[in-house]
Amino acid sequence: MFTMNAIGNEVIRLKEVDSTNLYLAQRMMTVKPGEGTVVIAENQTAGRGLDNNTWESEPSKNLTFSFILYPFFLAVADQFYLNKIISLGLADVFRKFLPDRTDIRIKWPNDIYIGDYKAAGTLVQNGVKGDSFEYTVIGIGLNVNQEVFRSDAPNPISLKMASGHAFDLQEVFQESLASLNHRYEMLKNGRRPEIDRNYLDLLYRLNQIERYLYKDNEIRAKIKGVNRYGQLVLEKPDEEIIVCDLKEIQFIFEP
Ligand code: BTN
Repeated sequence: MFTMNAIGNEVIRLKEVDSTNLYLAQRMMTVKPGEGTVVIAENQTAGRGLDNNTWESEPSKNLTFSFILYPFFLAVADQFYLNKIISLGLADVFRKFLPDRTDIRIKWPNDIYIGDYKAAGTLVQNGVKGDSFEYTVIGIGLNVNQEVFRSDAPNPISLKMASGHAFDLQEVFQESLASLNHRYEMLKNGRRPEIDRNYLDLLYRLNQIERYLYKDNEIRAKIKGVNRYGQLVLEKPDEEIIVCDLKEIQFIFEP
């Protein structure tokens, strides 16, 4: 039996690790950490991003952490609610530390954008058996004080780059845990309509005609929202509706 604990009840701090997600997934196979256990590393030697990309983060400049949840109350078909509450929790953090910015958005499925620049990314790795959750490992990369990014990530930004001043990493970490807990509580308490509304309100490029690469063809379309399964729903100018998965669509950014 797992006990239900808040995110951050136990925090494992590491100087260096390959990837905090890998670390927690491996512990899952052996000691089964309690719900909410967080692993935070000053440096990741093999930080992972979506699509097998690497995640660039200069040691001790940013937050790179992962935590484990046992969302037994959630049907696997509703798993996108995890993406929603995590992105909302992170967006809350950016809104708190950058109160003057009105352009903080969630880029589907769960990146945080400031303007057209990516400030945080999330890697959700679900362990599912049949139609039940066994566990989920959620990894967060939140750019705080890094100013130069060397990888080919197209459009990185950090809190410092957006504001011109440095932030206390521990303060941003504690605020992240508080916001993520608040949003996870909303989900546990059945506040799904509010979560849906909040996510849609913050969705990057909602209702704007923009350019996308869809199944290798360039299209112009408006994001209309996400469906129950977390797929992105867009509408083309001829009113054709497109429903797509992550691998089928790329956002095109104007130079
Ligand atoms: C993305 O590509 O947008 C997802 C990036 C997720 C990066 C974080 S950093 C902490 C955790 N450990 C990893 O190896 N990846 C996630």
